[in-house]
Amino acid sequence: MRKEQIEPKAVIVIFGATGDLAKRKLYPSIHRLFENGQIGDDFAVVGVGRRPWTNEDLRDTVQNSIAKFEYKKDVKEFTSHFYYHPFDVTCSDSYRDLNELIEQLESTYQIPNNRMFYLAMAPEFFGTIAKFLKSEGVTSTNGWSRLVIEKPFGHDLASAKALNQEIREAFTEDQIYRIDHYLGKQMVQNIEVIRFANAIFEPLWTNRYISNIQITSSEDLGVEDRARYYEKSGALRDMVQNHILQMVALLAMEPPIKLNTEEIRSEKVKVLRALRPIQTDQIEQFFVRGQYDAGMIDEHQVKAYRDEQNVAEDSNTETFVAGKLLIDNFRWAGVPFYIRTGKRMKKKSTQIVVQFKDIPMNLYYGNGETMHPNLLVIHIQPDEGITLHLNARKLGGSTFAEPIKLDYCHNCEDGINTPEAYEKLILDCLHGDATNFAHWDEVALSWNFVDVISQYWENNKTLSPNYKAGSMGPKASDELLGRDGFHWWPI
Ligand code: BG6
Repeated sequence: MRKEQIEPKAVIVIFGATGDLAKRKLYPSIHRLFENGQIGDDFAVVGVGRRPWTNEDLRDTVQNSIAKFEYKKDVKEFTSHFYYHPFDVTCSDSYRDLNELIEQLESTYQIPNNRMFYLAMAPEFFGTIAKFLKSEGVTSTNGWSRLVIEKPFGHDLASAKALNQEIREAFTEDQIYRIDHYLGKQMVQNIEVIRFANAIFEPLWTNRYISNIQITSSEDLGVEDRARYYEKSGALRDMVQNHILQMVALLAMEPPIKLNTEEIRSEKVKVLRALRPIQTDQIEQFFVRGQYDAGMIDEHQVKAYRDEQNVAEDSNTETFVAGKLLIDNFRWAGVPFYIRTGKRMKKKSTQIVVQFKDIPMNLYYGNGETMHPNLLVIHIQPDEGITLHLNARKLGGSTFAEPIKLDYCHNCEDGINTPEAYEKLILDCLHGDATNFAHWDEVALSWNFVDVISQYWENNKTLSPNYKAGSMGPKASDELLGRDGFHWWPI
């Protein structure tokens, strides 16, 4: 939790300042923090990149990146805090010059030697940058220095370990903030509160009352212009290893004894340790992979994955994954956690459905109709809220029941403007709060879990397009639940 509640003062150094993430997420987020007064006037951002830009180029880029948002404060005043530093990642002089620039800015803005280094660029340079930052004295400050790292954090456990070692030579675990932007989402953070602040859920949150939990994170977009990365990654590494397993951990963890970073992380780690490892000969039974074929989305014809730019004609990369996870502990023994995620699906939606067990006798549904189970649906995005599915007496004097819904929509309330995940995470890091970042132990355990599956898939190059763009994935994904007598609840 927050160690420094006062307005944070720091120089933020963004490596990859000309890149897509900086433009789409980081500049708008820093701007919102400035607009809302969460960072004051004493801050500076150094944009680092290979291109020979000037301060003016960077400031124009920042201004364009926030153009579509509303703002009250003077935009020129905001962009005047941005400085560009052309840079060669492998050259020590670049780091010394960077240090000088930061020192000047610390003096201009009276910033007490606090530095945030945000690596928003190709991961192959993470280790080199960390090493030079230390060797050239950029991290030796009287204040704090923190390293924020974007995913992917490695490609498998071995590469993640190697990367971690490199970074740890320059930064301690406490100084490293590994981004999982799902942890910055309002409703992901709400999972904990819904569970632990409600007497009607907390006692029921066990295998005695819950029959299964379903997590869906679907996207309607395809691979866009990221095929070079995605061809090597696939949906399992891109979404399951990080975002989905983080949601599983939050749904399954025990109540922490305190709401602090160490206690919450340690409960999440225990869940990941209790995940039942999948044996190679069980993969077909527990996991389904898919790849999108051509199809229609919003009445537009879209291409097959294999026809996208920079994708191999015979690509075996999965753009869809569904799986059944089991957590071997007292609370969850016997409760399947079903997960699915994919590109070019029917619509963009992330939701969690907690399905409760049926009550013992069906008194109120006649004519052979089955009972409607109670469901708690947590809407992560684009809607943010919860829906509780209950049964109530049918109107009109009948003895029968009908399903009803209690709805709470967070982002429907007037005046609520949900902060963008990155906005929250940047602020957390400035405050020294690492709760919503992935600890190394979580990253390692997650790789350990998915590595077996990805290795098996890599060795079995039998995937071909098996779901139409605009659908909810391959048939085998429905069969995965069907075998257990369940089905996916609609998104
Ligand atoms: C990223 C993945 O981590 O998450 C992308 O690399 C994916 O492939 C994205 O599209 C989804 O994030 P969100 O916030 O749009 O659900």
